[in-house]
Amino acid sequence: MTIDVVKVRRETPGVLHRIHLNNAGSGLMPLAVLDAMLGYLTREAEIGGYEAASEAATELDGVYDSVARLLGASRDEIALTENATVAWQLAFYALSFQPGDRILTTRAEYAANYVAFLQVSRRTGAVIEVIPDDADGVLDPQALEQMIDDRVKIIAITWVPTNGGLRNPAAAVGEIARRRGVIFLLDACQAVGQMPTRVDELGCDILTATGRKFLRGPRGTGFLYVRRDLMLTMDPPMIDHFAAPWVTPDRYKLRGDARRFETWENNYAARLGLGRAVDYALQLGLEDIETRCSILSARLREGLRALPGIVIHDLGRNPVSIVSFSVENRDATTVKAELTQLGYNVSISAPSSTLLDATARHLPAVVRASPHYYNTDDEIESFVRAVASSKP
Ligand SMILES: Cc1ncc(COP(=O)(O)O)c(C=O)c1O
Repeated sequence: MTIDVVKVRRETPGVLHRIHLNNAGSGLMPLAVLDAMLGYLTREAEIGGYEAASEAATELDGVYDSVARLLGASRDEIALTENATVAWQLAFYALSFQPGDRILTTRAEYAANYVAFLQVSRRTGAVIEVIPDDADGVLDPQALEQMIDDRVKIIAITWVPTNGGLRNPAAAVGEIARRRGVIFLLDACQAVGQMPTRVDELGCDILTATGRKFLRGPRGTGFLYVRRDLMLTMDPPMIDHFAAPWVTPDRYKLRGDARRFETWENNYAARLGLGRAVDYALQLGLEDIETRCSILSARLREGLRALPGIVIHDLGRNPVSIVSFSVENRDATTVKAELTQLGYNVSISAPSSTLLDATARHLPAVVRASPHYYNTDDEIESFVRAVASSKP
């Protein structure tokens, strides 16, 4: 079934105000998400925070089922967090590294992850190695295969980077990781919500993502998936009495599910919003979402490519719905400011957010336009005209 664009736009109040091409920054929330959060906050104000949580206990508990359904996982393998970075950190810092252990990553790795590699490397003597790309700038699974030995402790890669439409071959990496018995941590932050994201197909042991981007949930939400067998062996880097109930004066007992990575206090309104966003995406269907995102982003690339003085920076043969470009002789900040003035939301990706890739390709700060299924052809065309008119 194809997506009913008129309907999803009717359910998205933000489309009345802006042409939103910043879903890689933060997607526009659908009414279902907004209503769930506002309704819950109203109840907190009316009857009290603990009482509202108790009233909505079933729905709050259901958020774990929704995220598990999205990922094809079990609910006990899911922890809810305040963003993707915290989810990633909780898992990564739970692993122990010895001098000489190898961390294999990708050139497109996100800055938050890479600085954590650097810190752990400095603390433990583990070494970071970048898996080579193929001629198209996509992670090369064959090169990865050649790198695996007993010292490889983890393969930790970003599936879709923050700075463009590259789609790394996550499932091929997962197949190698499984076969060679290496832990595979996948940053799916920019992928989740714009394409199917099923952990069994990806072969990952750990997956992290955010709620606010292509999933269209609220800001300040994220989640962590950890495969059950691995999770049961992991000692979270910090715990509280929710993660590990205090059972006798000198003993605690870690929870037997992924919520050993959580703490007691939470933003329940945001959690409900996340759950609704996941349900909304599942109802539309991730395959159909991906198809429409591909059509719109291809159209956008095509339109921009036809303009003189525009350089598209996206890598790979099958790019996703993040279109990164620069305008000759104009810096990204000026271009973005002009587009904002004209009613278009885009963002900028600075070299420091993907430093290895930006350095290798001599990338400046790039403008990032990221359409979603609720954008229209007319919006894409008018955006291309706006970029054309923004030239000096
Ligand atoms: C690839 C990637 N990973 C991780 C993150 C971090 O997500 P969050 O801001 O929810 O912590 C981002 C955010 O832009 C990202 O693009």
